[in-house]
Amino acid sequence: MRTAVISDIHGNLEALNQVLEDIAQAQIDFLICLGDCIGYGPEPEEVVQALRSRAIPCILGNHELGLLDPSYRKWFNPPTRTSLRLTRKLLSAASLNYFKELPPFAVHRNCRYVHGFPPDSVTTYLYEVPEAEIQRLLTALPERICFIGHTHDLHLIAVQAGGIEYRPASRGIVFLEADKKYLINSGSVGQPRDGTNHAKYVIWDDEASTLEIRFVAYDIARTAEKILSLGFPAYNAERLW
Ligand SMILES: [Fe+2]
Repeated sequence: MRTAVISDIHGNLEALNQVLEDIAQAQIDFLICLGDCIGYGPEPEEVVQALRSRAIPCILGNHELGLLDPSYRKWFNPPTRTSLRLTRKLLSAASLNYFKELPPFAVHRNCRYVHGFPPDSVTTYLYEVPEAEIQRLLTALPERICFIGHTHDLHLIAVQAGGIEYRPASRGIVFLEADKKYLINSGSVGQPRDGTNHAKYVIWDDEASTLEIRFVAYDIARTAEKILSLGFPAYNAERLW
């Protein structure tokens, strides 16, 4: 089975559309979104509708949590809170209700899917977790692979009895060994922070045991224009480049 994992779209419909076109060519059996569909970007409602109209399963991200739970908003910096306020105005009641249904994690065919960190944290960042804790948690997980988002950066971490190993994570295909567990950050579709400006997503093929990291070009200028014209913080547009 070939599974495509997308995450952190952040209201960037231009990027999502290009990624969905790429996925349509890639013979995918299962597609899942790891949350943060909204926040920062100019078309949150259109992104939610694009996901829902295709019945793409989605889990809860911390930006959706920020809309649902006012007490969580204090953890966002002021420009991000501004973005969330504007985002809320652009969302329909149906989309806000939809966020209430999103689960904090999902399990499918020996893989776990969570926004922040396993087993079920929506808010923990990978860089906050010590190596020994990563090893302990991954070893305890019933599933072989855990996919995360949240940092907007690509990561491929192999876990075995002797310790954890940070593998290079960039464009291309890598083979995953059967005797190891893996923690994989799929990067961000709509606001990458890995040093390159393409939209990112990954394809997991559990028969070939390969992980493919895909880089997808999209019209950044158009997204940036929409961000500025709606009055979102300029940094939201600048950081796309
Ligand atoms: Fe995010």
